[in-house]
Amino acid sequence: MWPKLIEYAKDGGLDAIETYIFWNAHEPQRRQYNFEGRLDFVKFLKTVQEGGLYAVVRIGPYVCAEWNYGGLPVWLHNIPGMEIRTNNDAFKYEMATFTRKIFSMMEDEGLLAWQGGPVILLQIENEYGNVMQQYGNAGKEYLKWAAGMAVSLNASVPWIMCQQSDAPAPMINTCNGFYCHDFEPNSPTSPKMWTENWTGWFKAFGSTNPHRPAEDLAYSVARFFQTGGTFQNYYMYHGGTNFGRTAGGPFITTSYDYDAPLDEYGQPRQPKWGHLRNLHSALKQMEKALIYGTRQNVSLGNDLEASIYKTEDGTTGCFLSNTNTALDATVTFNGNSYSLPAWSVTILPDCVNSIYNTAQVPVAPQTVTSKQTKDDETGVENVVWHKESIFYNIRSKDLFPAKKLLEQITTAADRSDYMWYTTGVHVTEDDSFWNQGRVILRVNTSGHSLHVFVNSEHAGFAYGGYGHGAFNFEQPINLKPGKNYITLLSATVGLQNYGPLFELVPAGINTGPVEIVGSNNATKDLSRKVWLYKIGLRGEDDLFTNPKDFTWTSASDLPVNTLFIWYKAEFRAPNGSESVIVNLGSMGKGQAWINGESIGRYWPLYTSPEDECSEPCDYRGPYNPSKCTTQCGEGTQIWYHVPRSWLNEGLNTLVLFEELGGNPSQIKFRTVH
Ligand code: GAL
Repeated sequence: MWPKLIEYAKDGGLDAIETYIFWNAHEPQRRQYNFEGRLDFVKFLKTVQEGGLYAVVRIGPYVCAEWNYGGLPVWLHNIPGMEIRTNNDAFKYEMATFTRKIFSMMEDEGLLAWQGGPVILLQIENEYGNVMQQYGNAGKEYLKWAAGMAVSLNASVPWIMCQQSDAPAPMINTCNGFYCHDFEPNSPTSPKMWTENWTGWFKAFGSTNPHRPAEDLAYSVARFFQTGGTFQNYYMYHGGTNFGRTAGGPFITTSYDYDAPLDEYGQPRQPKWGHLRNLHSALKQMEKALIYGTRQNVSLGNDLEASIYKTEDGTTGCFLSNTNTALDATVTFNGNSYSLPAWSVTILPDCVNSIYNTAQVPVAPQTVTSKQTKDDETGVENVVWHKESIFYNIRSKDLFPAKKLLEQITTAADRSDYMWYTTGVHVTEDDSFWNQGRVILRVNTSGHSLHVFVNSEHAGFAYGGYGHGAFNFEQPINLKPGKNYITLLSATVGLQNYGPLFELVPAGINTGPVEIVGSNNATKDLSRKVWLYKIGLRGEDDLFTNPKDFTWTSASDLPVNTLFIWYKAEFRAPNGSESVIVNLGSMGKGQAWINGESIGRYWPLYTSPEDECSEPCDYRGPYNPSKCTTQCGEGTQIWYHVPRSWLNEGLNTLVLFEELGGNPSQIKFRTVH
């Protein structure tokens, strides 16, 4: 998809592509690197250059980005003495090793601007200023160290640090946000730069679909250049898809569409893409004045302002702004009259003729927008299944005991989303606790979702949500006289990616308690019993490492609405070369693979609140992600992206692991054009 995406970026009037580097994707095990396929960032940067664009490389290597663990490899977590993003030798050593490696790969390939390559800016760390206070003096030392380490690479390309108002020279501090016109860099010699202009917002399972109006996005950009801005980057211009288990959060969806100018499938989103293209073209008509001119601001009334850029040779460029959130206005400027809609900026490259207003969006789309039709829909055939082993059928060699509850990230190091916990509890009928076996099970978990089994029968499911990963499970269960087995299957839904010390936010059942409550509130605490553990599902081990041990059953009556089941189906891709999408609306929660590539976690059953959609959407006034949302009371993500390059002409294979129950025979594929 890269060449086409880059071409749309170039056509949309962009000059540079900004990208993060994802440490945990490139170094999944310590000193085992992966730069193949879609992780070939050198090839990506070369493709950017071939497409006629510059590149901005945000190495981080902490990146946030709604990406699993903010891009940090989970193996860092278990290195003795490790403290992340602070003045800690173990962390600094790992961060410097990776940063140097990435930098020398770029230098060896001649990718830096002075070598004739596309890379004009580099970033170290990411928004450390937002969390630095938490780390006290050690944070300040770490910041200085990170800047010094970057400078010591002698890149001869400027370095930036975003959201870092105390960035040490020669680092340039830059702004991230929905608006950055009020931002001022911390040095008079630093240009005013905006690394992230959020074009929309990300989605979490259980949330609505955010939209940032094109009028407001264009307004924020025009205001920035009106007020002396020099560099503005859209975050995201194309957000795409977080395939596999790369989405963070927890609870970030697989789609990272972001309401961006290029949608999840790489098509221009109209009218946003076209409106911004016109804006870029208007700005470029006064490029000389913006770059070499001096600026003068003139008030034209309340909330009304003219900004005049002028060079010594008389080249001009003007902006007229109306920052009022409700009142349209008519102003007189240089003897001419202009009407300025509320919350808008007008651009006059010659300071006379208005050629662009941020609130006037073209009505007719100028190019295609992703649309789907039923015309080319295909379905699945030859569906076979395999029941996942509930704890008792797990091979004993895969189990290990501990006389306490174990935190999931430390124990499983994210090898799988899943971790099993099981323990035994003995009750007798003459125990005052007994209550006919009808007791309450309470599990205090750090998240993110939990299935409960009692004596191998499914007895409940509960989950947290975005911003509240931890939750309490509390439901009645039935015990039998004698020994009972309580089995808990904890699943993560993407590891935390943001916040001070986010890397220490636990997952799984961690400290507990796990308790059962019988007659008269008598409580048995199971937290310190011997628990048996297994990381991952048996099906995951077998299917991906010993497929011979994994048998599929074909039967005329396919089990549907069944918990813990794997499905495999064949399908033909819809004709054509466009991106393919698959409707998983008939499924519950799990993960899906196409021809062996994970297309991500799915959870169509997780619906958004009924009442959080604001209709109609008014673009005027400061945007925030809860403004102009859609899809209330619906599954957050029903459609999943299947890149065309993963599909064959003949039969393709879809594999699903389904936790909650669904009907795979209803799954449908379509194209987007
Ligand atoms: C910023 C961060 C980005 C991304 C964004 C929200 O704070 O730098 O990586 O997480 O927020 O989408």
